[in-house]
Amino acid sequence: MRDVAINGERQWARLMDLARLGAIPGDGVNRACLTALDREARRLVIGWATAIGATVTIDAAANLWLRREGSDPTAAPVLTGSHMDSQPAGGRFDGIYGVIAGLEAITALHDAGIVTRRPIEVVGWTNEEGSRFAPGCMGSMAWSGFAPLSTWDEVRDPEGIRFADALAEHLAVEADLPCRTLGSNKPHAYVEAHIEQGPLLEAAGDDIGIVTGIQGSRWFRVTLTGASAHAGTAPVKLRRDAVQDMVRAVAALNVLMDDPDDVLRFTVGRIVVEPNSSNSVAGRVTFSIDCRHPRRDVLLARGDAVAATIRAAVNDCDVAVEEVFHAMPVTFDPLVVEAVAASCAGYRSMRLASGAFHDAQFAAGVAPSGMIFVPSRDGISHNPAEYSSPAQLAAGTRVLARTLLALAS
Ligand code: GLV
Ligand code: MN
Ligand code: MN
Repeated sequence: MRDVAINGERQWARLMDLARLGAIPGDGVNRACLTALDREARRLVIGWATAIGATVTIDAAANLWLRREGSDPTAAPVLTGSHMDSQPAGGRFDGIYGVIAGLEAITALHDAGIVTRRPIEVVGWTNEEGSRFAPGCMGSMAWSGFAPLSTWDEVRDPEGIRFADALAEHLAVEADLPCRTLGSNKPHAYVEAHIEQGPLLEAAGDDIGIVTGIQGSRWFRVTLTGASAHAGTAPVKLRRDAVQDMVRAVAALNVLMDDPDDVLRFTVGRIVVEPNSSNSVAGRVTFSIDCRHPRRDVLLARGDAVAATIRAAVNDCDVAVEEVFHAMPVTFDPLVVEAVAASCAGYRSMRLASGAFHDAQFAAGVAPSGMIFVPSRDGISHNPAEYSSPAQLAAGTRVLARTLLALAS
């Protein structure tokens, strides 16, 4: 195992510079994808990358690529990176840590004058979070060939802006960046550093998570259409109240998704009520379903029962159920998992699976992939209070740099 002297202070300072872009109260960040703030963040990263001679390109999904050449220009690259967008009430580390850790790793190689055989590319994937435009992981899904980019053209953000229009605007503003073809081009491997976003590493007193795989996820968008009416005059028996049917639907879904072992994850996180007025009966409710499980058969069985469960539960509304995302469980490749494990010398580590989805779930479809986790304080994430210490983040980056060096040699 070769070591690389990464600079934890530089990394922390960069993360704090980025955290100012979209800062919200409580140390949080709200930096949605393909916004002016996202572009400001990308410019910072581009500046740091070009300062070490990395080549910057962008593809049609606006994935951002920072490439450090190796000694063999024909060798397939080793990829690392993560996403730069955040949740609406997100923290300072989810996603952006993986990009800055990758950048710190290649900067450390640069500082040490180490040239790897394979090129190393750091990627910032577009729209991993899926909170401005649902679903998440659009950049990595399009890059890996999981779905064509045009799949999401008509997806709209809460302001009604089409994804295709936001992407076109973004690409026009970044027209000075050289383009690269959207596509996987068979990398040698992909390894993503990320905060754990759960409590296991902290509880065990471990420094590093050697991630063995990611559980599966399915997202649905449910629309219940009734009729809006006057809250003071419309007799309750004659109403087609979409909020009341939503309550019935969610109660039935809680029964469908019940899991005494508490492994299955079921979340209704977004509810849009129309007209959303206290003295009008709701004419329409749209709500999201996020359902996750490590087992494919369970995910398929429960997810496939969603539509029928809702239809059986509602009284008055028309029901439309659309599946907007599915990522089946993945097991990471031993090439990367063991390279990470072999890079943990000097640290306490554990093997664990990811409950969150990540771009690595789609990279795994085209290249041997894996991930490195660092502890999250109190297991908190998707929350302004998300925190990992400078030393914990530096440890993850040290393991990442060792892993990249091994994979790229
Ligand atoms: C990613 O942000 C996820 O929701 O797992
Ligand atoms: Mn993330
Ligand atoms: Mn996230």
